[in-house]
Amino acid sequence: MKKDITTMHLDDFLSPETLRKLREPDLDLAKGLPASIYTDSEFFAFENERLFHDTWVGIGFDSDVPNTGDAIPIEVGGTPLILCRDNNSCIQVLHNVCRHRATIVLESQASGLKTFKCPYHGWVYGLDGGLLATPFWDGTASSNKCPVNPGSASLIPVRSAVWNHIVFINLSGSAQSLGEYLSEMQEELGHLDLDSMEVVHTESWIFDANWKLVMENWEVYHHVWVHQGIFDLMSDEVDLETGEPCTDMVAYNNCLMLRPNALRKESARPDPGRLPLMPWKSNVSKTQIFTSIANAILPNVTASMGRVEFAPAVYIPIAPDKTLAKMAWFIPPGIKNNRELQPEVDKILERWLGPDRTITGRRGIRAQDHHCMELQQKARRSSVANDVRFSKTWEANVRYFQNWLVDKLETRDPTAN
Ligand code: FES
Ligand SMILES: [Fe+2]
Repeated sequence: MKKDITTMHLDDFLSPETLRKLREPDLDLAKGLPASIYTDSEFFAFENERLFHDTWVGIGFDSDVPNTGDAIPIEVGGTPLILCRDNNSCIQVLHNVCRHRATIVLESQASGLKTFKCPYHGWVYGLDGGLLATPFWDGTASSNKCPVNPGSASLIPVRSAVWNHIVFINLSGSAQSLGEYLSEMQEELGHLDLDSMEVVHTESWIFDANWKLVMENWEVYHHVWVHQGIFDLMSDEVDLETGEPCTDMVAYNNCLMLRPNALRKESARPDPGRLPLMPWKSNVSKTQIFTSIANAILPNVTASMGRVEFAPAVYIPIAPDKTLAKMAWFIPPGIKNNRELQPEVDKILERWLGPDRTITGRRGIRAQDHHCMELQQKARRSSVANDVRFSKTWEANVRYFQNWLVDKLETRDPTAN
C-alpha cells in the first residue's frame, strides 16, 4: 500500500546519526545530506507536502504578466495554479481548478483575457477568480437562475505577495508575513530602488538536477573551475597569502548572501561601461559600502545583483531530478529602448547566458552552474555518494541550508517559518 506522506516524519528518511553529523558544530567534522535526499521520490513528495506548502516560495515575476488580462498556468509543489493580472492591475494567484468538477481552467499562457472559462462545461470566472456564470446549469440560458453561490464556488485564491518584482506564494496561508520572512534581505538590499527597474529579458528552462543543489551552490569556491572565461583568477576570490576569502558568506534566518568584502579588488567586478549603476532610493544615504552580490531566499529563490542589473530566479521542483528555472533580468529605468546602449546591455546578458544566449551553451554563468548540478545529480545514483563534506573556509552556507531544510521538515508548525 502507498504510504501516506502527510503522516510521515523526517526520521522516516534520515537517521539520528545522520542528523547528528549534519549538525556537528565543527564544520571540518560535519557530514552533508545523503544521496537519497536528492533522488528519492517519497522524500520529494514529503518536501512538497511540507516545505513548499507551509513556507513562502517564489513562482515567477510580476513582469510575467505585465498587463491586465495576462495569465500563465504554473504548477508548484504538485499544485496547479494561475498567475495573472486582474482588472485592478494587481497580481493574483488562484488555484487552477474549476469549482464544478475539478478541471484545469487555464491550459496555457494567455493575454487580453476578460474572464477565465473552464474548457469542460463553460463555467466563467472573473480575473479575480469570482464565479460569474454557470451556463445552462438548470437547462436554461439565464444566469439569474443559477443556484450556485459564487461565494462557495469561485476559484480559490492563494496567498501571494510581490517583493522587488518576485512573486511569492504561501499555499498554507499561515506563514508569517512576507515582510517578516524577508526582513534580513530587505535590510541588505533596502537601499536599492529595485522596484523601479525594468525587465529586459527572461528565460525559463528545465535542468536535470534536484532543486536543493541550486541552494547548495551559494559559495564561491567553485568559481574558478566552473566559470572559466568569467571568474578566472583564484586571487580574485581569496588572499593567496592568508587564505582569507574576498567574499563574506553570510547565512541567517531564511537568507544566504555572498557579500564582497574589503579584500575584493575593484578589477574583479564587471565594468558597467556607460550604463547607469543600479538605482538607490532617494531617501537613503550612500553609507552602505558592500552590498551582497548573490542572494538566496530559501527555499527556492535567488536574487543576483550586478552593478547594473538585478537578476532574480525562481526554481520550481518538478521531480527529484528535474527543476524548472525561471530567471529575469531587470535594468535601471530609461535605458531599455536606448539603441546606443543596447550592445552594453547585451554584454550583461551574455555574461549570464553566454554569447550564443542559450542556456545550454555552457558559456554563461547560469548554464555553467546548472551543468555542475546535473553532474552532482548523476553522481548521487552511486552507492558511494553519501560521504560528503564541507570546507570551513568556503562552505558554511551549504551546511546552513541543509540544516535549515531539516529544521523546517522536522516541524509542521507554520509559525516556525
Ligand atoms: S468542470 Fe469546469 S465547468 Fe464543469
Ligand atoms: Fe556559480
